[in-house]
Amino acid sequence: MATEPTNDRIMEIGFGFMGAKTLFSALELGLFSLLAAGPLDAETIRTRLGLHPRALRDFLDTLVALGMLAREGERYANTAEADFYLDRAKPSYIGGLLEMLDRRLYGFWASLTEGLRTGSPQNESKGGGENIFAALYADPVRLRLFLQSMTGVSMPSAKAMARQFPWTRYKTFVDVGAAQGGLPVQVALAHPHLTGGGFDLPIVGPVFEEYVASFGLSDRLRFHPGSFFTDPLPRADVLVMGHILHDWNLEEKRALLAKAYEALPTGGALILYEALIDDERRRHVLGLLMSLNMLIETQGGFDYTGADACRWMREAGFRETRVERLTALDSMAVGVK
Ligand SMILES: C[S@@+](CC[C@H](N)C(=O)[O-])C[C@H]1O[C@@H](n2cnc3c(N)ncnc32)[C@H](O)[C@@H]1O
Repeated sequence: MATEPTNDRIMEIGFGFMGAKTLFSALELGLFSLLAAGPLDAETIRTRLGLHPRALRDFLDTLVALGMLAREGERYANTAEADFYLDRAKPSYIGGLLEMLDRRLYGFWASLTEGLRTGSPQNESKGGGENIFAALYADPVRLRLFLQSMTGVSMPSAKAMARQFPWTRYKTFVDVGAAQGGLPVQVALAHPHLTGGGFDLPIVGPVFEEYVASFGLSDRLRFHPGSFFTDPLPRADVLVMGHILHDWNLEEKRALLAKAYEALPTGGALILYEALIDDERRRHVLGLLMSLNMLIETQGGFDYTGADACRWMREAGFRETRVERLTALDSMAVGVK
């Protein structure tokens, strides 16, 4: 007799949002920043964070089971990853992104079904409002947190790209949509012969310049203000676009690729990196979820496979293309002019 399948996977997915919200609440309460100073017992955590005793143990032990806290005897401590990425005081903090997921996307995703039926965004722009960046950047604190969190999110890919790409063949590079400048800094630190910078909306400039200066790299990395839809891209041997193309529809993607092609010399390279979906569109769950998120967030954005990226780059004129895995999340598609 055939054995019945288990419902484990279904339950794990169905209850998944509760784990996410538990993490978001811990972040909102400042739990990881509190524990960054050292382990504490539950009662001390309760008084320091102003919590009710009722669900205290469940809250903390859930975070232990989720791998965000460790418990030894009576005391709770951050796990290594929570301490590195979720302590507000560290430059590697990615909580700005998680705060954004909590305050914005957690609610907007409740309307996913409506988005699937209508094909329309379900965020602030629902009913014809501003685009995601205008919404995020209206508040200077949110702007800084978002840009800083992009550095934390993209750091593993930036370090992998600094190692994997043949930078010795090139002299100049510009990261297009550079945010705080996490990638240009990593590449410049690893390759002292390179100069370059970051291109982004003018409002991003001060945050980029401050970050670059903190590494003593201001003489090698400069900020280029502009919009990639209305301004030409800076000329450089290598242009990078990280988590950019997925925000836009196919026509806009092609326009950005054409602009990049235009700005590169013969032999120059364009590197696209993001959560590229596997070519079979079966396995990379986060890449596919990211693409659904583009339905929630944008008018026409969607994520794409490495094969899509290579095809579009060849159609834009690039003569050689390849895809390389950077991290569990991101891959890079490289086009050589
Ligand atoms: C999702 S973030 C990616 C940041 C960074 N490349 C990374 O991967 O960590 C998108 C970036 O595109 C920038 N951006 C959005 N619209 C832009 C435009 N029209 N021109 C230039 N940059 C833009 C945003 O300011 C933001 O820094």
